[in-house]
Amino acid sequence: MANVVVIGAQWGDEGKGKIVDWLAARADVVVRFQGGHNAGHTLVVGNETYRLSLLPSGVVRGTLSVIGNGVVLDPWALAEEIGRLAGQGIAITPEKLQISETCPLILPFHRDLDALREDASGAGRIGTTRRGIGPAYEDKVGRRALRVCDLADLAAAGPQIDRLLAHHNALRAGFGVAPIDRDALVAELAAIAPAILPFAAPVWQTLATKRRQRARILFEGAQGVLLDVDHGTYPFVTSSNTVAGAAASGAGLGPGALSYTLGIVKAYTTRVGSGPFPTELLDATGERLGARGREFGTVTGRKRRCGWFDAALVRQTVQVAGIDGIALTKLDVLDGFDELLVCTGYRVKGREMAHLPARLDEAMAAEPVYERFEGWPESTAGARSWADLPAAAIKYIRRIEELIDCPVALVSTSPERDDTILVRDPFRD
Ligand code: GDP
Ligand code: IMO
Ligand code: MG
Repeated sequence: MANVVVIGAQWGDEGKGKIVDWLAARADVVVRFQGGHNAGHTLVVGNETYRLSLLPSGVVRGTLSVIGNGVVLDPWALAEEIGRLAGQGIAITPEKLQISETCPLILPFHRDLDALREDASGAGRIGTTRRGIGPAYEDKVGRRALRVCDLADLAAAGPQIDRLLAHHNALRAGFGVAPIDRDALVAELAAIAPAILPFAAPVWQTLATKRRQRARILFEGAQGVLLDVDHGTYPFVTSSNTVAGAAASGAGLGPGALSYTLGIVKAYTTRVGSGPFPTELLDATGERLGARGREFGTVTGRKRRCGWFDAALVRQTVQVAGIDGIALTKLDVLDGFDELLVCTGYRVKGREMAHLPARLDEAMAAEPVYERFEGWPESTAGARSWADLPAAAIKYIRRIEELIDCPVALVSTSPERDDTILVRDPFRD
């Protein structure tokens, strides 16, 4: 049975939430495997808009949802999100949601440290979501994190809390900030524990059982390959692996469970935060893309940087992440442009390059080499079949497939769930 991994193939916000929600109709389980509440996934169903950060995008359809061990979990943010969804008529129960017992916790001082570092970095700041994601992953790898299972017995977790606070208090002293109040922290954790523990489970067992039952598992990535800590535009990246391979380690099953990787690709390019962006448009065209595409962050409300489609970068992410097919989203945003440009490579300090160089100074200096396309005056918004697409739009899609060397499996033409063209079913064996 085919399982599908959905990942972002650019710098995030490609429309993963919409596509996961659409695919969830064909899945038995939806699993988040990395990132945290830095993610913001938007689903539009009729008149209702759902904004999810930690909850897998299957919850809206009622598909069993799992938060895997690879996710860093802010218990207060999760409780808030569960409450918000309840207000929209989506009840989250332990029958619907399971959280890995081994998820590292994001605590208030992780958020503090994220902000302190960003504020101290001035123009060199990464532009993080300030949610404490990086500091929490550092503590996980540093072997001093508190985990979901520790909420069940905070007294037993005492020595680990001491190790954790000793580390952070030293860092805080360096920033001239007061040490952490241990008693207050333990009291806060004790207060939030009952909201989280009912969902805690050895999710690897659940997933193993589902595999034996030949259930269809849909893995939902957060961020995008260009924000991957190994493969992205380092250091302007997030602190986790966002590639498809992370789904196995971040959920607790073998790589053989991942049969098809669907890369979500926006028909142009956006980025939130700092770092290289060769096709960025700092002109009226960039403004027009941002306005038509409503490019404001779901999590922080920040304006997203916008630019032309970068086929050289997506060709790179297709290879590095092993993407089998793409969902091309937001095609409708390109309606009405006279001309569309697509980047096919770079000129870097006088040299031609087919991929973005790893060195930051070179990536920042990379100038795009463009191929030009005729736009289409017709509307593609709401198109649900190829037959609804103008010839120029089809030509644009076909050329993108050639340039990135990867076929299109889905095309999305509006935020609405059903405004989706199916070309090849990712779940097909
Ligand atoms: P994610 O982080 O990858 O899930 O993406 P976000 O939800 O942060 O951002 C994508 C935005 O584009 C959301 O507001 C979606 O509702 C919207 N969206 C998704 N697909 C389409 C599409 O095909 N056309 C248009 N116009 N909007 C879309
Ligand atoms: P979704 O899942 C877009 C970016 C931040 C910043 C960098 C590091 O909605 O696509 P972090 O807080 O993770 O340490 O920030 O990563 N970033 C995202 N950009 N979409 C996201 O998630 C992102 N999550 C993090 O803007 O540049
Ligand atoms: Mg997003």
